[in-house]
Amino acid sequence: MRIDKYLSGLGLGSRKDVKKMIKQGRVSVDGVTAAAPETAVDPDRSRVCVDGKETLYREFAYVMLNKPKGYVSATEDGRYPTVCDLAPAELAHMSLFPVGRLDVDTEGLCLLTNDGALAHRLLSPKKHVPKTYIAELSAPADEEDVKMFASGVKLDDGYVCKPAELEILENNSARVVIYEGKYHQVKRMFAAVGKRVTALKRVKIGGLALDESLAVGEARELTGDEIALLENFENETGDNINA
Ligand code: URA
Repeated sequence: MRIDKYLSGLGLGSRKDVKKMIKQGRVSVDGVTAAAPETAVDPDRSRVCVDGKETLYREFAYVMLNKPKGYVSATEDGRYPTVCDLAPAELAHMSLFPVGRLDVDTEGLCLLTNDGALAHRLLSPKKHVPKTYIAELSAPADEEDVKMFASGVKLDDGYVCKPAELEILENNSARVVIYEGKYHQVKRMFAAVGKRVTALKRVKIGGLALDESLAVGEARELTGDEIALLENFENETGDNINA
């Protein structure tokens, strides 16, 4: 890889900016000052320093956002701000996108990445990745609803959902785990049993739980262990997408 591409890929500036840095003699590769923007580097092996400080190249970034209401799950939107506007500024050059969609009025765990393969695995209907939500309801859920969710709720368009877990919580709240991602699915599942969702928050994707110390609107990068947790989970049948 050319050194100018490597440096701009790190977010250190445009190609023009980094060419200037090279010309100024601020960049070294394995201890030797880089002479030209064409200088070749191996992102996995070369020791590239800028102003004497070692750089760390990486292709992918993984961000956990505690999504607030009022933000759309998209990279751009004409009307609303997007979840990508809340990503850490230093990752702005990494072309992050949200993995799946939360409604504009849904809060909670939103994953942003530029790793298309991981996003594909998490969203694939074949993988049955569990997504856990806390819903506040217009009326308390009951044991009949728990049975209906477990056997497969029929939505307004006739689609019969895959079995889902419903746990009744205090104060008209409920925890729901679904293994697919149809449009407005949780709201429509409750509508099918005669209840309206008045607030919705996603708290888990796969084995990764929302870090409750993140304030609403805050985002941070995932740790290596957390990235692994995304694809490391057990669902009710014991399936695991790594299996
Ligand atoms: N189900 C919904 O109804 N809305 C969401 O945002 C996510 C799941």
